[in-house]
Amino acid sequence: MKRPQKIEEPTGKLGILLPGLGAVSTTFVAGVELARRGLADPIGSLTEFGTIRLGKRSEKRAPKIRDFVPLATLDQLEFGAWDIFEDDAYASAKHAKVLNAEHLDPIKSSLEAIRPMKGAFFPEYVTRLNGTWVKTEKNKAELVEALREDVRTFKRDRGVDRLVAVWCGSTEKYVEPSDVHKNVKSFEKGLAANDPAISNSMLYAWAMLKERVPFANGAPNLCVDFPAAVELAREMHTPVSGKDFKTGQTLMKTILAPGFKARSLGLAGWFSTNILGNRDGEVLDAPENFKTKEVSKLGVLDYILQPDVYPKLYKDMYHKVRINYYPPRGDAKEGWDNIDLCGWLGYPMQIKVDFLCRDSILAAPLVLDLALFMDFAQRANFSGIQEWLSFYFKSPQHAPGLYPEHDLFIQLMKLKNTLRWAMGEDVISHLGHEYYD
Ligand SMILES: NC(=O)c1ccc[n+]([C@@H]2O[C@H](COP(=O)([O-])OP(=O)(O)OC[C@H]3O[C@@H](n4cnc5c(N)ncnc54)[C@H](O)[C@@H]3O)[C@@H](O)[C@H]2O)c1
Repeated sequence: MKRPQKIEEPTGKLGILLPGLGAVSTTFVAGVELARRGLADPIGSLTEFGTIRLGKRSEKRAPKIRDFVPLATLDQLEFGAWDIFEDDAYASAKHAKVLNAEHLDPIKSSLEAIRPMKGAFFPEYVTRLNGTWVKTEKNKAELVEALREDVRTFKRDRGVDRLVAVWCGSTEKYVEPSDVHKNVKSFEKGLAANDPAISNSMLYAWAMLKERVPFANGAPNLCVDFPAAVELAREMHTPVSGKDFKTGQTLMKTILAPGFKARSLGLAGWFSTNILGNRDGEVLDAPENFKTKEVSKLGVLDYILQPDVYPKLYKDMYHKVRINYYPPRGDAKEGWDNIDLCGWLGYPMQIKVDFLCRDSILAAPLVLDLALFMDFAQRANFSGIQEWLSFYFKSPQHAPGLYPEHDLFIQLMKLKNTLRWAMGEDVISHLGHEYYD
């Protein structure tokens, strides 16, 4: 990544394309609609609330991030979506039961105007859903072309200047990277041959990259996290990022675990379980789809705790993650963690975390931030993997040969330093010796 010579201004409209118009997408769109009418606050969004320190502490310069880097404003956003059900954003939001009538009624007509385009869908990747609003092209290469045509039509009809896409579709069954994912040539051959290792979400990712639409992946599917997609992203000078929004339990894990490690406290076990009853929970009730989520959720502790470097503290730690589909809770997920710690001389201690969270309320601001930062990345001429956006993901996409950075505070520092660097400010090391010279 080169320091940008020039960053284009975010003039005109920014179209945000959402494959998957379910709980997260509708909560996000509704939140933006409410915020621009001054009816609610976009809490949880770094691009709306965050500040960034510049220069030395004594300079007292700490503007809001959005006053420092050129980002699109909420008023400039237009929304488009695909889904495999015909419900418009209002009907889908009612079905998701995240927001109540007090929030949905004032924006009903704006939400009703967002009607999904037909989805590209082969049911074997999400067996719990029986899509009825789907494209009829049978060949995967043709489906990519149909999605590209949707993008061009949306851009023309809505008069948008730039586009970004954030995958908010269902979690797909676990797919390992294989030969077809190796490079652009093998992938394009696979598309024409309907290769089963090419899932629905990969069709969207491929179509977006071909149209130079920056693409962020909010689910744990491979989607855009394979060598061919990264090669195409570089060829098309388009940024990509993923995967799996870091929201409830994993967010807590990546806040707590760096603290234990910082104090050299040991861990004997970490048991995490969840109950949730939304459509995401229903999809994850299928073992092959849960496997994709499990891999994404399990990775974080190993990388943060480095058991190979600290065998005494973490080598034998038992880590278990469960997700249980429990319809009465809907989107109001409950995540329990039992943490078995050990301290001085090995004496055991316990911490219990009971996070009564709301899945889509936590995810919506991430969609906004990712859309705005991915658009910024495109205007700054960044392409390929945007590791500086790891802050938002459970399994951050990273260059081959590197390990991903999971510690939330290192991720935030990396994000802010990238913005400082891109804008020609000094990066901040927190050394601070100059105050004492
Ligand atoms: N806190 C969170 O909510 C959170 C955190 C991390 C990841 N995620 C992931 O974000 C995604 C969205 O979550 P959600 O709660 O909105 O789920 P949801 O089930 O409410 O919405 C997903 C939508 O995607 C649609 N869909 C499925 N396959 C499609 C396809 N091929 N093309 C177009 N649409 C398709 C479904 O019909 C559904 O409407 C899921 O993959 C979930 O695992 C959510």
